[in-house]
Amino acid sequence: MSQPRDAGSHDFVCRLACMERSRARAILRRVACRLCRLCARNDSLAERVATMSRDDDILEVSDLRVWFPVRDGLLRRRVGHLRAVDDVSFTIKRGETLGLVGESGCGKTTTGRAILRLQSATAGAVRFEGVDILTIAKRDMRRLRARMQIVFQDPYSSLDPRMTVGASIAEGLQAHGLCKRSEFDSTIQHLLSVVGLTREMRRRHPHELSGGQRQRVVIARALATRPDLVICDEAVSALDVSVRAQILNLLQDLQEQFQLSYLFIAHDLAVVEHMADRVAVMYLGRVVELAETDELYVDPRHPYTRALLSAIPDPDPRKPLARALLQGEVPSPLNLPSGCRFRTRCPLAIDRCTHEEPALLPVRSGHYVACHVTGSNATSNSD
Ligand SMILES: Nc1ncnc2c1ncn2[C@@H]1O[C@H](COP(=O)(O)OP(=O)(O)OP(=O)(O)O)[C@@H](O)[C@H]1O
Ligand code: SF4
Ligand SMILES: [Mg+2]
Repeated sequence: MSQPRDAGSHDFVCRLACMERSRARAILRRVACRLCRLCARNDSLAERVATMSRDDDILEVSDLRVWFPVRDGLLRRRVGHLRAVDDVSFTIKRGETLGLVGESGCGKTTTGRAILRLQSATAGAVRFEGVDILTIAKRDMRRLRARMQIVFQDPYSSLDPRMTVGASIAEGLQAHGLCKRSEFDSTIQHLLSVVGLTREMRRRHPHELSGGQRQRVVIARALATRPDLVICDEAVSALDVSVRAQILNLLQDLQEQFQLSYLFIAHDLAVVEHMADRVAVMYLGRVVELAETDELYVDPRHPYTRALLSAIPDPDPRKPLARALLQGEVPSPLNLPSGCRFRTRCPLAIDRCTHEEPALLPVRSGHYVACHVTGSNATSNSD
């Protein structure tokens, strides 16, 4: 579009252009918005997207392992390892949301942090668009990090209380040299409008905002670096129900506009069902089941997934409760059970489970289960 536009119509046209992008990339270049840098960035994204199909993996995590050394004694000798993440593998496609669920302490956050190299990995590979980011130089990683952002649970602790909203957003722009100083104002203003905040909010400090507004600021700050992948670590858990719905809708709108990929970490399975295209279920550092969301929620195979799903409250009080309650406590990750690490709580455990760790194998296309009884190389119960 070559004709000039006023600032008021800019945002609308800009959003329209973004939507056009995801629908018809051929028309895209004709409606490209010249005022908006987010859109300008999407022009190059669209070109890349044109050569990459939606089926291309933007992220590939292979056998990722994060073991924390456990030290004891006067000399702080290493006496063992805490296996927070133990040979975890999954992929995320462009524009896809992968849900990551599991009980507290199973390694979800550590997985997310290791993907961004905020936590060093003990072994494995994390490929972002084919580049193994665990082996690249720190300088290259800094550049890549702009394209991979994380949104944490508590927006209050994610924002510096001494910085205004505008300064917080500008920090990311500045750190990655993403726009000229003269463009900071218009870019911040645009980002605030993208996440549904007014221009006036830029002068406020975090304590002058509601929880939902703070999380919108955190999302705007994450978008400032024009990411392709966003790790949402319990991003809506601290919000009340109505605000949570608004933020979830916002995340979905932004995904459509900017072709974002999400790793959506949450313990609320109803929220994950709403958000995710596929879901990976973690137990004590391992992925025990991975499937398309619809399939996982209708036909869960792993006994742990079944127990988790049966704990989701049904809003219909007339429906009978059919809960597969888990027995016992979660074992310590410092002292994992032999064989299948779920066996101490599993109602289906057989002898084989005591001495052989089940591998994550496909039971059908796209549905993987790690279980000797319900998985693909199942043993009969008489074993
Ligand atoms: N820096 C660390 N040093 C030692 N152990 C750690 C460290 N960070 C995490 N852990 C341990 O790793 C395990 C996994 O922690 P993580 O925070 O990844 O769990 P989570 O699944 O995100 O839990 P939650 O749902 O409560 O957030 C826990 O046992 C935790 O105590
Ligand atoms: S492998 Fe055995 S213990 Fe583990 S989930 Fe399957 S049946 Fe249960
Ligand atoms: Mg966590």
